[in-house]
Amino acid sequence: MKCEAVILAAGLGTRMNSSLPKVLHPLGGKPLIAWSYQTCLRATGSSPYLIIGPDADAVRVVVRDAHFIVQEDRLGTGHAVMQAASELKGKADLILVVNADLPLFRVESLQQLIEVQKMNAGPVSLLTAQSDVKRGFGRILRDEGERIVGIVEQAHATPEQLAIRELNVGGYCFNADWLWEQLPALSLSPKGEYYLTDLISMAASAGLEIGAASILTLDEMIGINNRQHLAEAETALRARINVEWMEKGVTMQDPATVYIDPSVDIGMDTVILPNTHIMGKTTIGEACTLGPNSVIRDSSIGHHCEVRLSVIEEAVLEDHVDIGPFSHLRKGAYLCEGVHMGNFGEVKNSTLKSHAKMGHFSYIGDTVVGAGANIGAGTVTCNFDGANKHKTTIGEGAFIGSGTMLVAPVEIWDRATTGAGAVVTHDVPPESLVAGVPARELRKKKDSDHDA
Ligand code: UD1
Ligand code: CA
Repeated sequence: MKCEAVILAAGLGTRMNSSLPKVLHPLGGKPLIAWSYQTCLRATGSSPYLIIGPDADAVRVVVRDAHFIVQEDRLGTGHAVMQAASELKGKADLILVVNADLPLFRVESLQQLIEVQKMNAGPVSLLTAQSDVKRGFGRILRDEGERIVGIVEQAHATPEQLAIRELNVGGYCFNADWLWEQLPALSLSPKGEYYLTDLISMAASAGLEIGAASILTLDEMIGINNRQHLAEAETALRARINVEWMEKGVTMQDPATVYIDPSVDIGMDTVILPNTHIMGKTTIGEACTLGPNSVIRDSSIGHHCEVRLSVIEEAVLEDHVDIGPFSHLRKGAYLCEGVHMGNFGEVKNSTLKSHAKMGHFSYIGDTVVGAGANIGAGTVTCNFDGANKHKTTIGEGAFIGSGTMLVAPVEIWDRATTGAGAVVTHDVPPESLVAGVPARELRKKKDSDHDA
C-alpha cells in the first residue's frame, strides 16, 4: 500500500510573536520544519507534501526536496489538507497527515499509526496520548462501547469534556479515496475554520471504524505554539539525544547541562563533563574527556583527547591532544598527535605538528609549527600588517623564547632558538640563536655543535 505524507505548515504561528515563520524557528540546530519533514520521509519512504502559507518562500529553501502546496487563505486544518487533493488524488492508497508544529514525533510512532490503519476496516486512524498536561489539545470522545466517536477542540469543550485525559496528538492516517471524497463535506466550525478533526465524527456517524495508535513517549506531544513550548521541546530533544549517547557508551556527569546537536558523532568511553556544548558537524573519538564549560562546533576530535574549559570551532585534533583551560581553536586549526596547548592560547588557520607544545597565553595564526617545537609563554605571530595576512613557519624542535614576537612573513628553521622578548623580523637559520629588538643572531650553527 502506497502512503504519502502531508505536513500542515501554513499556520501563522501568531503566538510566537516573531517576524520569522513559526516552522523556521530553530530546534536542536535545525529549523522546526526539518524535523517533521525528516520523520515523515522516513516513515513513508517518499518525499512529503508540505502545505505552506503564501508568504513562506523561506520554507522552500530549508526543505528543498519537499513538494510544496500553497494554502492561500488559512481556513483551518481541514482546508489545508484539501489543498493537496488535486495533486495527490490517485497517487496513494493512504495519506498520512501530520501537524508541522509537532517536531518530536518518532518515526516508530508514525509507522505504527500507518500499520494500524492498514489493518483497520474503517477510513481513518489517529495518534492519541493519555496525559494530564492538556496544552490545548483536542479531546478524544468515545461512546459506552469505547469506540471513538469524535474529537472536540478545547475551545468548544464542555467542562466534562475538558476533563478527558485522552488527547488528539495531531497525526492521522486516512484511506485516500475516503479522505478526498469527504473533505468537501466539512462544514465551518464556530471559529470559521474547516477542522480536519471533524472527519472523525463524520466517519463514526456513518458507522465506520476509527483506529487509534498511542505515541511511544509523551515528549512527542510537545507542540510548538509559543516560545515556552520551543524551550520545552529543546530540553526534551536534548534529553533524548543524551540518553541515546549514554546507551552507546558515553558518560555524562550531568546530562541536564550537556547540549549535543543531532548531527554529532561520539566514540565509546568518552566522558562529557557539565556545561559542554557539542554542535554542528562534529566528530569525537573514543575515550576523550570534554569539559566542563566547553563549546565544540563543526570540528573533528580524535581518540584520547582532553578539552578543558575551551572553545573549538572548525578545527581538527588528532589523537592524544590536550588543550585548556581557556584555549580557543578557530577555523583551520589543526593539532597533530600529542600536541599540548595550555591556558589562554589561540590558534587560527595553523598546523601544530606532533608533540608541539604551547603552554601559556600565545597567539598562533597562519603558521606551521614543526614537530616537537616549544612555543614559550606569550609568543605572538604578528600575522597581520594592517592590510594583509602573512605566514610564519616554525621548524621542527625549535625553541621560541617567552614573549617572542614573530613578525610575519618569517621562518624559524629547525632547532633554532629565540631569546625571551625577541622581536623577530628576519628568517632564523637552523640551530642558531637570535635575541633582542629587532632580533640579531648571537650564535651560528657550528659543526662542533653536533659533536657535543
Ligand atoms: C490541532 C487540532 C487539535 C490537536 C492539535 C494537536 C484541529 C482543528 N485541531 O489544533 O485537535 O489536538 O492540533 O497538535 O485540527 N495549519 C495550516 N493551515 C491552517 C491552519 C493550520 O496549515 O489553515 C497548520 C498549522 O501550521 C499547524 C497545524 O496545521 O502546524 C495545526 O494547526 P494549529 O492551529 O496549531 O492547531 P491546534 O489549535 O494546535
Ligand atoms: Ca498546534
